[in-house]
Amino acid sequence: MKQLVLSGGKPLSGEVRVHGSKNAALPILFSCLLFSEPIELTNLPAITDVSAALSLLSLLGVRVTRAGSESVILDPRAAVPPAGCDPALSGSLRGSLYLLGASCGRFPERMVPRPGGCNFGARPIDLHLAVLRAMGLAVSETGEGVFVKGRPKGATFHFPIASVGATVNAVLAAATGEGRTVLTNAAQEPHVLDLIAFLRSAGARISLPAPGTVVIDGVPRLHGTSHRVCPDMIEAGTYLLFAMATGGEIALRSCPPEQLAPLFPLLSGMGARIGTGVDTVALTRTGRLSPVSVSTSPYPGFPTDLQPQLTALATAADGESVISDPIFPTRFGYVADLRRMGATIVAENGRATVSGGAPLTGRRMTAPDLRAGAALTLAALTAEGESVIDRFDLIERGYADYAGTLSSLGASVKIADGDV
Ligand code: EPZ
Repeated sequence: MKQLVLSGGKPLSGEVRVHGSKNAALPILFSCLLFSEPIELTNLPAITDVSAALSLLSLLGVRVTRAGSESVILDPRAAVPPAGCDPALSGSLRGSLYLLGASCGRFPERMVPRPGGCNFGARPIDLHLAVLRAMGLAVSETGEGVFVKGRPKGATFHFPIASVGATVNAVLAAATGEGRTVLTNAAQEPHVLDLIAFLRSAGARISLPAPGTVVIDGVPRLHGTSHRVCPDMIEAGTYLLFAMATGGEIALRSCPPEQLAPLFPLLSGMGARIGTGVDTVALTRTGRLSPVSVSTSPYPGFPTDLQPQLTALATAADGESVISDPIFPTRFGYVADLRRMGATIVAENGRATVSGGAPLTGRRMTAPDLRAGAALTLAALTAEGESVIDRFDLIERGYADYAGTLSSLGASVKIADGDV
């Protein structure tokens, strides 16, 4: 297994082009099954979750034509139902769950395999099934996965939780379904809005009359289109936190500030000076770091996908920080390794309480999941000495050119194969 080897103590400074969003790319890739014509996608992030999604679509008969590392043309006209996909593949990413909604347009019956995804606790799919059932689909869970039968009809559905994935599946199912579907308390993350913008460019009739409300009038077909995947706000936020942790100065290009605006008050309160342009965000740390108290919530709240990285940053702040994650209360698997590095941190009842300021020492660690791997990276960048992070493959799921970017910012980093 590949390992990331880092030596801490150097400020990260420089310029980074933010890559395309993993969590926009995945629903957009799977949505190709709704189409009766080829689609062209650009600014796809070169990450293993995208490679896995493309492999899965190829297995389903979609013609995949790569045009460089960040562009692809998908021709779904020969696609077959997702029955019995290779479980190793469909189980390697959460995004394969989008086959539930994406397969509604083409196949009257389909078996969608169980998804995978980051292992930080329960990843229920009850809301996905509930909204599809509300659309009149026969949905049953089996040992193999989820069996779905029928064509979606218009429905009104209120999400009790603003679920990103269930919102995506509802929009995908309704796009070429019959009638009008009205979703309330739907997810509003930039990556969900990017999927909607993409579908609208293909003729889908989707409106956003109020925050969290999505109205979809099904259309008989979607025409071919070309789309540039939106930048990844979580990648952008991750590098901002790396720069804060190491006392560097960073400038992010291809980074719409409005995506990250919900973070700015929190980062400024901890000791960052932030500058923004049309498509850029710049950050400099102004001195010692102040502690933080925050709870994750659906966009435009503080994203759970930056909770691990912020918790790691809090170890460098003077005083006590409390970071709660009611979205994924057990998403603290990385805390044990932070404690081994010397952090004073307790994670229980869905929150981490951090007494910051103690210096950290480099250690051999294991990334439990994608964003936890970024949290351990942040800690290693501030620690004394060398750190080795096992399961670098989990980080590569969602960060393109991770080691190259860290190196370009001045980090002492290398990728090792096998035991170091
Ligand atoms: C998406 O996961 C992202 N994954 C996650 O990012 C992200 O952490 C999450 O949204 C929240 O923003 C992808 O987009 C591929 P949810 P998803 O449904 O859709 C509960 C990363 O690091 N829930 O918005 O699975 C759930 O338990 C990954 O890029 C139900 O109860 O998340 C959670 O408490 C990790 N029933 C809350 O909703 C359901 O049927 C939000 O989950 C579905 C979800």
